[in-house]
Amino acid sequence: MSAADSNPQSAGGDSSIEDVDSIAMEATKRIEEAADLSELEALQREFLDKRSPLSQMKASMKDLDPDARKALGAAMNRARGSIENSVAQRRVTLEAQAFEVQLAAESLDLTEYLGRATLGHAHVITKTWERLEDVFCGMGFSVESGPEVETDWFNFEALNLPPSHPARSMWDTLYLDPSVIKGDDGADDEALGDGQLVLRTHTSPVQVRTMLRAVREGSGPPIYAVCPGRVYRRDTADATHLPVFHQIEGLVIDRGITMGDLAGTIESFVKAYFGSSMTSRLRPSYFPFTEPSAEFDISTPDGGWLEVGGCGMVHPNVLRAGGLDPREWSGFAFGFGIDRLAKIRYGINDLRSFMTNDIRFLNQF
Ligand code: DAH
Repeated sequence: MSAADSNPQSAGGDSSIEDVDSIAMEATKRIEEAADLSELEALQREFLDKRSPLSQMKASMKDLDPDARKALGAAMNRARGSIENSVAQRRVTLEAQAFEVQLAAESLDLTEYLGRATLGHAHVITKTWERLEDVFCGMGFSVESGPEVETDWFNFEALNLPPSHPARSMWDTLYLDPSVIKGDDGADDEALGDGQLVLRTHTSPVQVRTMLRAVREGSGPPIYAVCPGRVYRRDTADATHLPVFHQIEGLVIDRGITMGDLAGTIESFVKAYFGSSMTSRLRPSYFPFTEPSAEFDISTPDGGWLEVGGCGMVHPNVLRAGGLDPREWSGFAFGFGIDRLAKIRYGINDLRSFMTNDIRFLNQF
């Protein structure tokens, strides 16, 4: 029976207190059963607004005698009060439920993979980097590092590449806007200097940093150091290029160092890293920071050669930039790509595989 059907009000004014109570009971029951907030709003309108049975009964009360009117009026006020109460209570419950539903819908289950988790391992490039450090440490080298945001001076000038040197075009360089990097607080401005900033295009600037540090700290020369690190070029990624890749630099500074020491060091490294059946060769080449310069290749099982990196005798201008006297010290340097070496070692045909995060690829190493 709905409130409309139970409307006890009639033109004859026979509304009774029982009618009022039964409306209140029906209203309370239906309000308690309201499934959601919109149903509750509808019930509130049905039982409390101007066209509700209670409001209509009120209109017919004028025909009753004063006592009866007073008694019925009090019953109607009670009924109204209890209906309003029920609505308020039900609203609290339904709002809490709606909030729970919303929370459940928006929650993020971070334990989703719990139980399926397997132990990860280092990326193949990291492993190659670490293995290279191990091999060179075994040969008596220390490991040095330098910043990835580098000054033009360290990246080029100190390496015998003054501004406008034609060989600068060997490196497609990413330049940085110094005003973006220097904050308003002026805190680190001095360390950055006034020069142009670049993302280092190679690890060779660490050669100069290592020489200057050794002189400053009084720890050398002799210097026997490798400098692995991330480098950047303005290149589009393809099978043989990445805009962000890794190099390792070698630097030896001592008295009486010759090209023979360079060739012997490269040969020892190739045997230690690739195995004793492998060999290396040097081919004449050109780099501004070494004189003479060479490229070094490693042998392949089918009798061919694979180009690995560049090397040479450290140019006197580079020694001077590093604070060393070329009449007293000589040395050699080399540098090659870690990614390229991993590509050769594991027979990978596309350098982009290193960047794709494809678990089927990564799991193999
Ligand atoms: N920095 C060179 C490059 O990125 C590689 C290189 C060549 C490093 C000769 C050296 C070197 O130390 O002697 O292409």
